[in-house]
Parts: sequence; structure tokens; C-alpha cells
Amino acid sequence: MLDHAKNQVLTQVGRGTPMGDLLRRYWMPIAALSEFENETIKPVRLMGEDLTLYKDMSGAFGLIGRHCPHRCADMSYGFVEQRGLRCNYHGWLFDRDGRCMEQPYEDVAQPEVRYRDKVRIAAYPVETRAGLIWAYLGPEPAPLVPNWEPFTWKNGFVQIVFADVPCNWLQCQENSVDPLHFEWMHMNWSVRLKDQGGPYSPRHLKLAFEEFDYGIVYRRIREGMSEQDPMWKVGRVCLWPNALFTGDHFEWRVPIDDERTLSVTWCFNRVPKEREPYVQEQIPAWHGPVLDSETGRWISSHVMNQDFVAWMGQGVIADRTQEHLGTSDAGIIMLRQRFLKDIEAIARGEDPLATIRDPEINRCVSLPIADRKRLIEGMTLEEIAKHPLGAGQLTDYVFQAGQPREVRKAYAEAMGIAK
Ligand code: FES
Ligand SMILES: [Fe+2]
Repeated sequence: MLDHAKNQVLTQVGRGTPMGDLLRRYWMPIAALSEFENETIKPVRLMGEDLTLYKDMSGAFGLIGRHCPHRCADMSYGFVEQRGLRCNYHGWLFDRDGRCMEQPYEDVAQPEVRYRDKVRIAAYPVETRAGLIWAYLGPEPAPLVPNWEPFTWKNGFVQIVFADVPCNWLQCQENSVDPLHFEWMHMNWSVRLKDQGGPYSPRHLKLAFEEFDYGIVYRRIREGMSEQDPMWKVGRVCLWPNALFTGDHFEWRVPIDDERTLSVTWCFNRVPKEREPYVQEQIPAWHGPVLDSETGRWISSHVMNQDFVAWMGQGVIADRTQEHLGTSDAGIIMLRQRFLKDIEAIARGEDPLATIRDPEINRCVSLPIADRKRLIEGMTLEEIAKHPLGAGQLTDYVFQAGQPREVRKAYAEAMGIAK
């Protein structure tokens, strides 16, 4: 349980709030590169700030304020130029650093005043990595965009999946350090959703949590497992500050504002050995629905949709004064305490956990990966079909509802299973 004041501290993401300022010390994935194949501008709301993401005619990305400093027109309806984004109302042009480069009428009417030098729009750095576009809203010098190990892997089919989840980010992230829910929410609930009475899945017998350089590792032992099992020896990762990492799959919970979260998944499927060498030309991105429009209820058929049901069910901002934590929640307590400590750390001028500034380290940041061998060495199609984690993925995208047919087709072609 948390008192009301601490719950507020941990859940508010606006600029100038303690957690908002802490989260601004990290790069956040906000869009996919492939979304800009046919579009040039995307409105973005990030940590309560309304912004405009664009790709100009030189191919450079920029992230600037949503409203023009002239008379507040919506910059997401502007148009890109060779360099920068131009407001569609009176043509003021801004570059990616927020400088005003042109004010067409002022530049003619009173060029000597150079009024444009006095005007700026908010602007933040953006970088691309692993098919994602990342934004940094914190103080300079910015750390590096983490180059997590799977981003360097070859022979994979990657897809990026988004969902708008109407609740606060923290309850989503607490799910990243909650191994027990897997047994009930994903395994046993799925059994019951299929209208089957059982059997239920093996029970969790032992859990452990441990902080490391990039988050918290969680380990589990379920009935029938020994301490030699990779789920105990290696475990899985609550990745700092707002992601889950399971080995070939990242899920970021990106705060849109205090009451909404953008779920961003980066999912890697190693192609069968017989398909190597495989080079993916473009990483597809798609947006999955959360609500079943026919029933008016949340979708519950896919793994992450089930998670969304849990998160949204906790309320728009979970009231942690009402909870009764058990021993299974040790990781959640650890996560909250670490955030509170890091709020103090940045106030002292220190870097928070998982800040990467050394380019040598960032060449490839390795993480605990329970089934590393499968991902590094690959498997034949026959072996994938027999693998407990691989087989289901050959027939469906199991993580989220709504995968477009063309993405399924591209996946099937990559895997060599297209009919
Ligand atoms: S409001 Fe943007 S140029 Fe006038
Ligand atoms: Fe889950």
C-alpha cells in the first residue's frame, strides 16, 4: 500500500513533477520509422506535452511543439520543407532545433528587425533505432539511446505494435515485475475463456527479484521445474524505467499523460535456419484495438490484451491506498522504492538507474535472456514447430489482437510458411 501523496508522486508525468522529471531522463519510443513511409507528420502526446513529429524533405526527423508560436495554429497540419516544418496558417518555418527560419511577411515588411530571431518553438531531440523513433524530453546532455542486444541481431522478422491504453503508465509497468500473473491471467484465464474447466497450469512455488544495471530481474519456479531451469537461473527483465523484456520481445509503457499510456511492442522472430541469411527490408508497424466494438467490453483473446484488461481494470490511476500487497509483490515494492530513490538521485545531480552514456558499452548492451541459445543459434522450421514458445507463433500473432493481414503475410513469407 502507498499513501496518497506517494501514489501521486509516482504516477504524475507532467513536466516539473518528480516522476515526470525522472522519466524525462530516458529516451522514449514514440513512433515507428515505417509510419513515415507515406506520411510526413504525426501529432504526438508524450508525458502530457502536445508535440508534432515530422520527417522533412531531407529525411531528417524533428519533434517540435504542437502549436505555432505566432497564433497557435496546429503544427501537425503544417507542411514539411527541405529543412523543417512550416505552419500552414501564415507560413512561419521552424527547424528541428526550434529556431524560426522564416516569417514570410515579416521578412519582407521589416527585414531589419529580424523578428524571427526572437521566436522559438519547443523542440526535442529525436533518434531512430531498431525501426523505432525515440524522443528525449530531458535536460542536456542527453544519454545514449540504448542499443539493446536484440537490436543487433540478424535473421529476424521484427514487427512493432502499438495500443492506446486508457490508464496511467505505472500500473502498466508494475505488471512488468509481476511474474505470478502469468499463471492466472494468461494461462488459467485462457483455459476458462475457451470454456474449459482445466487443467490449470503448474503453480508458482518460488519467486525472486533482484536489481541489476538495467532494471529488475525476476525469477520463478513453478511445479515441475528445478533450480536449473533458465526461468530461475536467468529469469526475465523488468527493463528500466518503463518496459518488459522477455528475450525477443520488448514492451514499453510510454506515458501519454497521467491517464493514458502508449503500449509499444518490438517483437523479434528469428526466421528458420533454412531461411538464412534473411534481411528484413522494412519493419512493419500496426496499431491494435483495445475495445471489442461489438460487445463494448475489452478484448481478452490475446496475451497483451489480457494485460490491458488488468491495467485498465485497476482504474484510470490505480488507488494504491486501497491495495493489500502480498509476498508475490516484492518486485513491485522494489520498483517503487527505486523510483523514489532515483527522484532523490536526480535532485542531487546524479544519473538514475540504467542511464547509458558510454558509447563503448552502448555498442551492444546485453541483457539476461533465458532462451539465448534458441535466439542466437536459430532453429529449423521443424524445431520451431515443436518448441513450446515457437509453435503458437507459427499460426497466429499471439500477443495482441488486430494484426493486419499484410503483416501476417510478410511474417509468413519471412518464416517460409506462406501458402
Ligand atoms: S499561426 Fe502559424 S504562422 Fe501564423
Ligand atoms: Fe502479462
